[in-house]
Amino acid sequence: MRLDKLLSHSGFGTRKEVKNLLKKKVVTVNGTFQKDGKVQVSPETDLIEVFGEKVEYQEFVYFMLHKPKGVISATTDNLHETVIDLLQPQDQLQEPFPVGRLDIDTEGLLLLTNDGNLAHELLSPKKHVNKVYQAEIKGIVIEKDAVAFLKGVTLEDGYNCKPAELVIHETDGAKGTSKIEVTIHEGKFHQVKRMFESVDKEVTYLKRLSMGPLYLDENLQLGEYRTLTQDEIESLKNRK
Ligand code: URA
Repeated sequence: MRLDKLLSHSGFGTRKEVKNLLKKKVVTVNGTFQKDGKVQVSPETDLIEVFGEKVEYQEFVYFMLHKPKGVISATTDNLHETVIDLLQPQDQLQEPFPVGRLDIDTEGLLLLTNDGNLAHELLSPKKHVNKVYQAEIKGIVIEKDAVAFLKGVTLEDGYNCKPAELVIHETDGAKGTSKIEVTIHEGKFHQVKRMFESVDKEVTYLKRLSMGPLYLDENLQLGEYRTLTQDEIESLKNRK
């Protein structure tokens, strides 16, 4: 990869800032000063130093975001704030993107990475990654709904959902509302909302708690994010 790209992705600023840095003759590649940002380097085999300090290049970044309502799961948008806008500028340098989508009004766990292979693995319909959601429902959810979810409900467009596990946490007869948790093994557009529509109920609040082995960190406030731990990264990569 180009030296200027490596430096920029390692937190040394924009391409222009990196160009100025290179001009100052403070960057060495294998011990030799290098002023040309276009030169090709290998992060694995070349020793790159700035002011004599080794540059630790990380090819991939992995962030867990507690997505708030009102932001969209995209990298750019003309109208709305995106989940990428919630990242610090230095965390945007390596161009992470959201792994899958949460609706604009859905909160909860969203993984952001630039690791295309991992994203592909997690989103592949063949891999059946579990996603657990907590929801508030307009309507009284009953055991019959849980049985229907377990058999696989049919959406309004005729799609037969895979079996899903529905746990009823609380129902309020006076208000006509319920609190539930549902585990799905696929990720169709508006899936949870449409599954409840199929049993004549409405999702009024939705939050994703987990995706495969990755659980939303309870210490993250809405809109906050953190880097995944090495264990979390390994658990995602090694999931069967
Ligand atoms: N199901 C939905 O309906 N919306 C989401 O954001 C995620 C799952």
